[in-house]
Amino acid sequence: MEVVIAPDAAAASQVVADVIARVVRSRTAPVLGLATGSSPLGAYSLLIDAHRRGELSAAHASAVLLDEYVGLPIDHPEAYRAFIRRQLVDGIDLPASRLFSPDVNADDLLDACHRYDRLLTELGGVDVQLLGIGADGHIGFNEPGSSLASRTRLKTLTRATREDNARFFDDRQEDVPRHVVTQGLGTVLEARHLLLIACGAAKATPIAEAVEGPVSAMCPASVLQLHPHATVVIDEDAATGLRLAGYYREAYEHKPTWQEL
Ligand code: GLP
Repeated sequence: MEVVIAPDAAAASQVVADVIARVVRSRTAPVLGLATGSSPLGAYSLLIDAHRRGELSAAHASAVLLDEYVGLPIDHPEAYRAFIRRQLVDGIDLPASRLFSPDVNADDLLDACHRYDRLLTELGGVDVQLLGIGADGHIGFNEPGSSLASRTRLKTLTRATREDNARFFDDRQEDVPRHVVTQGLGTVLEARHLLLIACGAAKATPIAEAVEGPVSAMCPASVLQLHPHATVVIDEDAATGLRLAGYYREAYEHKPTWQEL
């Protein structure tokens, strides 16, 4: 795992946007794994800026979502499909028909989950999977206790996550769906590159547990330690709980120029 400590959230977003742009430019049919939440928004807006300047085209790319709420009306603005269209896809030239998300309205939800896992394989796998991290260490919507080998499935959100996400629902926790479909941790691990971004003091504890704690279902993000190519991009505030912060800084500063993130 590589840990990049950027001076602030803007610099962290730039690092992430640069990695995604490189994947889009270098592959003939890139598959981007997109995350929701507030953490990736800075990177998304940098990608939109690059597209507007004529420096980035995603017309040949596909995108897959990590997770989706169950039970929201199909046109609800906080459905993750609507969120990601607003925050990224509609601002670049990625065809909306190439944006994939779990079919949470299927009559047979279990079958829809299996189909989503199959779809990721049929697309040739995810080239880079962007991730945020929840206060309890969740990635996607894999709450603590999630099997490290889990596949796309239905999950029940913890009360704490529903409280956290109430900010997107006019602070009405009762409006935050209780159920979600999320890629499993085993599914996420199949992406070729995992790229997690976290900024701010509230992320310091989950980041310390994910990066330097034991690999455990109690901190789902710790599963990144099992991946051969995982990059954790954080700002100074999110780095305060890391014992090896000095080492990560030194390693990044002296990174060989031929070695990409
Ligand atoms: C939600 C999303 C996660 C995201 C997390 C953190 O629960 N399902 O993918 O990482 O929120 O959100 P934020 O980035 O807003 O802190």
